[in-house]
Amino acid sequence: MIFCDHLTKQLFAYQIPMTDVEKQRAPQLEVTDMHLSFGGIHALAGVSLTARRGGITAVIGPNGAGKTSLFNTVSGFYKPQQGQVKLNGQDITAQPPHRRAAMGLARTFQNVALFRGLTVLDNIKLGGHTRLSSNPFSAMCYLGAAKREEMALRREIERDVIDFLEIDHIRNLPVAGLAYGLQKRVELARALAMQPEVLMLDEPVAGMNREETEDMARFILDIQEERGITVLLIEHDMGLVMDISNHVVVLNFGQVIGEGRPSEVRAIPEVIRAYLGEAGLHKVAA
Ligand SMILES: Nc1ncnc2c1ncn2[C@@H]1O[C@H](COP(=O)(O)OP(=O)(O)OP(=O)(O)O)[C@@H](O)[C@H]1O
Ligand SMILES: [Mg+2]
Repeated sequence: MIFCDHLTKQLFAYQIPMTDVEKQRAPQLEVTDMHLSFGGIHALAGVSLTARRGGITAVIGPNGAGKTSLFNTVSGFYKPQQGQVKLNGQDITAQPPHRRAAMGLARTFQNVALFRGLTVLDNIKLGGHTRLSSNPFSAMCYLGAAKREEMALRREIERDVIDFLEIDHIRNLPVAGLAYGLQKRVELARALAMQPEVLMLDEPVAGMNREETEDMARFILDIQEERGITVLLIEHDMGLVMDISNHVVVLNFGQVIGEGRPSEVRAIPEVIRAYLGEAGLHKVAA
């Protein structure tokens, strides 16, 4: 009897590998009941959301709402107290950040996180190295088979990333001397070099002028439309969110307070209250 019980548990514990068709049918990215606390601060208090395959899902909310914390738990940088992340139907909650990256999750950071002393090209190549079998050190020293892999990566990056994001003119410059808007573009380039299935962008146009913002909006749309990459976008620029996203999730105090199409979300009283306060709600209603 004890043996049967043990066998049944073993059978249920064994996960049958998903076929490619099953993976395609599963939502691209699913977050379920995510909880993350720092001492007494509940950065995430039970957040669930789904990023639609091939769509742009925006995550918005006032300062401190938990948007970056959500990205940090999805990418594996923070370990939540509770909750689950699934990529293509596969539970990745226990995977470390580099495994999640290799499985297709790439991100940019709210505060640009590049190697400032390295050139633009070297920074971007570091993104590509997440997919190579040789390590970055042997690749940079051009050792053996690493040399061939490195050359192929360089060609691919030149065509698919540098030309695409129109940063050819700065490829050999150190990142430290670049204007902030360009640094943000280089960070996007590094994430693209990882050939992600899901691209998470944390405030990609913060600090940019109108023209830079419009360029970035065009790049994000091209990434989604031409490459079919699923985008998860945190942004305070409401014009951009309303223009390019298909679905919007609104966070406040670590909870989802509304979601829907951009036009729907704008009309949710709880969302208006979170952004404009009670007075704002009366003004909108009047
Ligand atoms: N590493 C940390 N240690 C302690 N508290 C943190 C940490 N990271 C985030 N928090 C807290 O968690 C809450 C959510 O922060 P988070 O950075 O996720 O907000 P956000 O929505 O990204 O805000 P913003 O729009 O200002 O970037 C805040 O109260 C913040 O102070
Ligand atoms: Mg943030």
